[in-house]
Order: sequence, then C-alpha cells, then structure tokens
Amino acid sequence: MRKKIVAANWKMNMTQAEASRFVEALLLRDVGEITDVEVVIVPPFTAIAKVTEALGNAQNIKVGAQNMYWEKNGPFTGEISAALLRDLFVHYVVLGHSERRTLFGETDEIVNRKVRVAHEAKLRPIACIGETLEQRDRGNVEKILAMQLRGSLAGLTPKDLQETVVAYEPVWAIGTGRTATPEQAQEAHAFIRKTLREMADDTTGEHVRIQYGGSVKPENARELMSQPDIDGALVGGASLDPRSFAQIVKAARER
Ligand code: PGA
Repeated sequence: MRKKIVAANWKMNMTQAEASRFVEALLLRDVGEITDVEVVIVPPFTAIAKVTEALGNAQNIKVGAQNMYWEKNGPFTGEISAALLRDLFVHYVVLGHSERRTLFGETDEIVNRKVRVAHEAKLRPIACIGETLEQRDRGNVEKILAMQLRGSLAGLTPKDLQETVVAYEPVWAIGTGRTATPEQAQEAHAFIRKTLREMADDTTGEHVRIQYGGSVKPENARELMSQPDIDGALVGGASLDPRSFAQIVKAARER
C-alpha cells in the first residue's frame, strides 16, 4: 500500500515571513495531525530554514528543495549542493521540473546526474516528467514519458528507484488552469508504472509513488487522487494558500 504524498511547490514565491505564516496557518488546519498522508513543503531556498523552524516537531510534514547541483562543493557560483540541503534538514528535492527543463535547458541526462547524487546524499528525489501539448496532439505521450523516465532514472538500483517519487506533470496543465482529466492522468500513471516494472521489477513498480501535477485544486484533487495509480499531487498555484493546500492534503485521505 503506497502512502500518498502531497507536495507544495512554491516556486519563486514566499518571503520568510510569509512562509512562517503559511506553516502556522497550515498547522492550525490540522494538517500536522495527519499521519496517513505525507506532506512536503518545497519553499524557495531562502525560506527553507524558516519553514523547518515553523514546523517544529510536526513529524509528518517534510521539507523539500526545488533544485540542486550535482557537484559536491567548489566553484559553482549560484548553485546549491545536496550536502548544503541536508545541512538544512531537507528530505526531498524536486528535479527536472518542466520549468527547469524549458527555461534552464535541463535535459534527461542532467536530471539523471542530479537524481543519482541526491540518492548518494540520502535525499529523496521527486523526478518530474510530462509531455507538451504538441507531443500529446501528435500521439506521442507514451514515447515521451518512456524516454524521460528511462533517461532521468537511468542506472538506479531497485532500492533507489523505490525511494524516488515520480511526478507526472503534463506541461500543458502546469499553471494553465487546465487539468488532465482523471482518466487521462490515470492512463499516463499506469503507463509510467508499467515502464518502472520493466526498468526494474514488479515489486519496484508497485512501490514507486507517482504524483500528478498540473492545476491541482481543492475542486479536482479528490477525483484525481482516487485513481488507482495516482499516489498524490505536486501542487503549484493552489499551494500558496494554506486553506486550499490543506483541503488538497485532506482530499488525499478520501477514497
Ligand atoms: P500548478 O503547478 O499547480 O500551478 O499547475 C504545478 C507544478 O508546476 O508543480
């Protein structure tokens, strides 16, 4: 039985004060008491320490980072390493988000280097994949997903694969208000799971948690997350408001 995982990707938003206020409001909404869903807050680097501080001993809410570099340390101005993230008590790291792929030229090969280094450092990657609208219209969804998955997660042991979270985020659904239908999302998730079985083995395929991302809101969260292969959500826009994010976390508990 896979535990659902719901993550708040704040992107380039939230000052330290806003981040503390958000966490306090989220805890007030009883999210800190929920143990059957894993919750991850993914602030910009500058608010990570504040989020950890505000969370106090809320055991089931973890902190994530939005990116990292694969080198251990050294002359890489502007970059952040896995060890520096661990130093801030970060558990998860989002890698290969479509905004990084399109705006910052990240390829599957780059994502793969980062994913491997994250595992070495005992950080859990949330590896993002997803097709563009053009690729969908041309009927290439499965081809693209298989390529991104095999490329981004190449060379991982079954154990590391099982500790990787995959986020399926159709590019056309990110920040557009246009969500994949539950059927479209389930179809893609089932294909991703089948590919993971082929890449490793059946047990691994069954273990990996696959989040859906792309315009997830309180109104559509329950139906999406009740699909058999959808194990949670990576939430952008709706995660900036503690009320909506709490509703999405709670929707993950309903079947
Ligand atoms: P969105 O973003 O919820 O605003 O569509 C999702 C994401 O980019 O992770």
